Amino acid sequence: MIIAIDGPAGSGKSTVAKLVAKRLNYRYIDTGAMYRSVAWTAQQKGMSLADESAMAKIAENLNIEFVPGAEGQAVLVDGENATALLKNETVGRGAATVAAQRFVREVLVARQRQIGEANNVVMDGRDIGTVVFPQADKKFFFVADAEERGRRRYEELKSKNPDLDLKTIIEEIRQRDHEDRNRKISPLVKANDALEVDTTRLSIEEVTDHVFKNINNL
Ligand code: DC
Repeated sequence: MIIAIDGPAGSGKSTVAKLVAKRLNYRYIDTGAMYRSVAWTAQQKGMSLADESAMAKIAENLNIEFVPGAEGQAVLVDGENATALLKNETVGRGAATVAAQRFVREVLVARQRQIGEANNVVMDGRDIGTVVFPQADKKFFFVADAEERGRRRYEELKSKNPDLDLKTIIEEIRQRDHEDRNRKISPLVKANDALEVDTTRLSIEEVTDHVFKNINNL
């Protein structure tokens, strides 16, 4: 069983996907974390993210594991717990760069399909309902105003970085939207058969309930 949740940064996908997976006892797969893992590894090695063949090699050789931990799900990158480090904005920017590269996408999409074929999953990303699993059992496309998404990101990150500026975050969200929607390969786009959910004025509980109402018949 595959439940796909796509949408732009800060639309609430991962928070809701985690809750839905927990209630259904499905695996939650954060595909953004996979692109982030490639960028993070390259950045740590001081490599140029523009080097497409080097990025593809990293993607091919990297061991990315999603494991249940005390604070929800942890992401292990070559055995190292990188969960918190992957949330960094520099890593997010790098992820947008490598996510625009054909070979990196091919490698990661193949892995996502393997995981989805072997498990019941709730998978979130940008292209799950369009490219990774066009036959997903249920597809959702979350949207929300950029200001609200920026505010959410700000709340999430400010405890670790008190110097954060809300306006800058909103600007970065808009920039990321532009990159995700306009890249040539697998741009962020709603699948025709996905249910659009505007989360701007909804609480996490309301969005989760809405998703549940729509997967009742699974
Ligand atoms: O959801 P996120 O912020 O962790 O995603 C990081 C980057 O990876 C973002 O620029 C979009 C990209 N991405 C993608 O292209 N396809 C996916 N399935 C998931 C993320």
